[in-house]
Amino acid sequence: MIRIDEVLTEEIKKRCSRRRFSEKPITVQEEVEILKVIEKINDEGNLEFQCCINYGDEAFEGLKASYGIIKGCSSYAALVGDSRDETIEEKIGYYGEYLVLKLTQMGFGTCWVGGTFDKKAVAKDIKTEYSDKIYCVIALGNLEGKEKTSFEKVIGFFGRNRKSIGELFYSIKKVKAEDKKWIENGLECVRKAPSALNSQPWIFGYNGENIYIKSKGNKTGFEKIDLGIAMLHFQMGAEEKGFKGQWKFIKNCWEFIKK
Ligand SMILES: Cc1cc2nc3c(=O)[nH]c(=O)nc-3n(C[C@H](O)[C@H](O)[C@H](O)COP(=O)(O)O)c2cc1C
Repeated sequence: MIRIDEVLTEEIKKRCSRRRFSEKPITVQEEVEILKVIEKINDEGNLEFQCCINYGDEAFEGLKASYGIIKGCSSYAALVGDSRDETIEEKIGYYGEYLVLKLTQMGFGTCWVGGTFDKKAVAKDIKTEYSDKIYCVIALGNLEGKEKTSFEKVIGFFGRNRKSIGELFYSIKKVKAEDKKWIENGLECVRKAPSALNSQPWIFGYNGENIYIKSKGNKTGFEKIDLGIAMLHFQMGAEEKGFKGQWKFIKNCWEFIKK
């Protein structure tokens, strides 16, 4: 069972991936705020998230030119967890996205990064126990301005195409009329969620009693992390419209149960 007790739908609406950062460093007070969120996540989720504030340039602008997709970024959070946990990837997605939304609330720009970072540079700064794995990093920092740069607009073009509610949930017509509102708002929040290569590998269903979610495909290798991200967005959207629920892993499937 996983559940964060906060509704951050304003941040869900505001968030988009940012890949150009300003030189303005993160202050000590801000770092303390970020560390508090990470501590909460690690306590509640039994995770090992860590961060590297103001000295992480090498992670994105190391030797390999292809890493240059993210520029001016000198801070990141490393999403670390125990690879022996059978639902670790969903947890990384769920709690990693909570961190993204809290960073958005603090006014920082963020980008989930699964591939385009220098793993050796990150491994130098991040501690891992023997069965721990660094699943992803979140690039974070101050932005030059609210508006995206022209480069970000070109890259962000990929992320604009979103599946419709009907494509995410084929049998939406089967749900009871009184449940429509919170389910649709949950799905609206899922439509705004980030996913690796914007693949949106999510399928929702209804088993007569509860809503469930599954990931589909294996195009990117990040499908289960994307699943956890969508679970958080759905939960917050549902709660905004009065339905308090939590995700439970039942017989190999994530079901959304009334709290
Ligand atoms: C698990 C995961 C991995 C990602 N990896 C990268 C990456 O390596 N490089 C990158 O530039 N963006 C990466 N992204 C960002 C996605 O491309 C982006 O979320 C998607 O295109 C949707 O755009 P949006 O975040 O602006 O809504 C990743 C996102 C997720 C969720």
